[in-house]
Amino acid sequence: MDDLRDKYISLISGAKDEAALEDLRVQAVGKKGEVSLKMRELGKMTPEERQEAGPKLNALKDEINSALAAKKAALADAALDERLKTEWLDVTLPGRPRRNGTIHPVSQVTEEVTAIFADMGFSVAEGPQVESDWHNFDALNIPGHHPARAEMDTFYMYRAEGDERPPHVLRTHTSPVQIRSMELQGAPLRVICPGRVYRADFDQTHTPMFHQVEGLAVDTDISMANLKWCLEEFVKAFFEVDAVELRFRASHFPFTEPSAEVDIRCSWEGGTLKIGEGDDWMEILGSGMVHPKVLQAGNIDPDRWQGFAFGIGIDRLAMLKYGIPDLRAFFDSDLRWLRHYGFASLDVPTLHGGLSR
Ligand code: PHE
Repeated sequence: MDDLRDKYISLISGAKDEAALEDLRVQAVGKKGEVSLKMRELGKMTPEERQEAGPKLNALKDEINSALAAKKAALADAALDERLKTEWLDVTLPGRPRRNGTIHPVSQVTEEVTAIFADMGFSVAEGPQVESDWHNFDALNIPGHHPARAEMDTFYMYRAEGDERPPHVLRTHTSPVQIRSMELQGAPLRVICPGRVYRADFDQTHTPMFHQVEGLAVDTDISMANLKWCLEEFVKAFFEVDAVELRFRASHFPFTEPSAEVDIRCSWEGGTLKIGEGDDWMEILGSGMVHPKVLQAGNIDPDRWQGFAFGIGIDRLAMLKYGIPDLRAFFDSDLRWLRHYGFASLDVPTLHGGLSR
């Protein structure tokens, strides 16, 4: 029995891992282990022999079991030490700032404008950026020979040689969505149509691609007064002030009659743009009463229905509200600019929550 003990105690202390320990356990005290077999022999012994060998065998079994348990604990400790050595972490290192993406001012302002007009009962409509010549021009009372076509600096799409149809255009304004909305929904109608538009023009306040939001209200009793009220409500809500000075200037668009351009009082002093003060005016939108021919093009009877329409420059609104001096930077994708002028992605503008907070 002493030999058995010495053998297992030394084997256990030399075991390299838990699997080896388990093998030893089976060999020694498992059902068919050496110690267990010896215990079975107790039955064949005389009562005297059994009285002496029984307790000794039990003690041996206990000793081996506790040696197994102790070694198991020691192996686990060693494994943990080993792991801690490889997984150490210097908690005094400075944390890295999270690099969150931001919402572009154009997207932010589009959401703000949408929230304001939605509150006045307008829904959002969209149209294609590659537009038919008819929707972009003819239907808006701009026939082929009209000088407005040249003024618009239009980008024309390619047509195969010999194809006589007029080429599609990159829409030069969101006004074709007026036609598409009338065709689709008929009257009465209240929509705004935000989106990208394109003109071959490039300087501090013009980029070849920019953004507009069109507005269109058609009903049986719409007047210029309704237009003026809507725009004033919009401008006050958008700039989050009680009063903003607007200037309605008589103007001309082929698709509205009468027409008015609307400017907002501002200052460019010291290179920074300030809204609501100064001696400058910044044009932010064109508007007017929808021309009867335009209603007709949209399959709406001009003898029964009238409407107002407006088109606002979204980028200009963003420049004015958030003091961004150069329009070109909007589309440079400069990360420093985007981080500086961008908005937190979870702050969705709502009227009750505050548009720009
Ligand atoms: N489409 C005009 C533009 O791009 C703006 C406008 C829209 C004017 C609707 C009147 C009515 O300049």
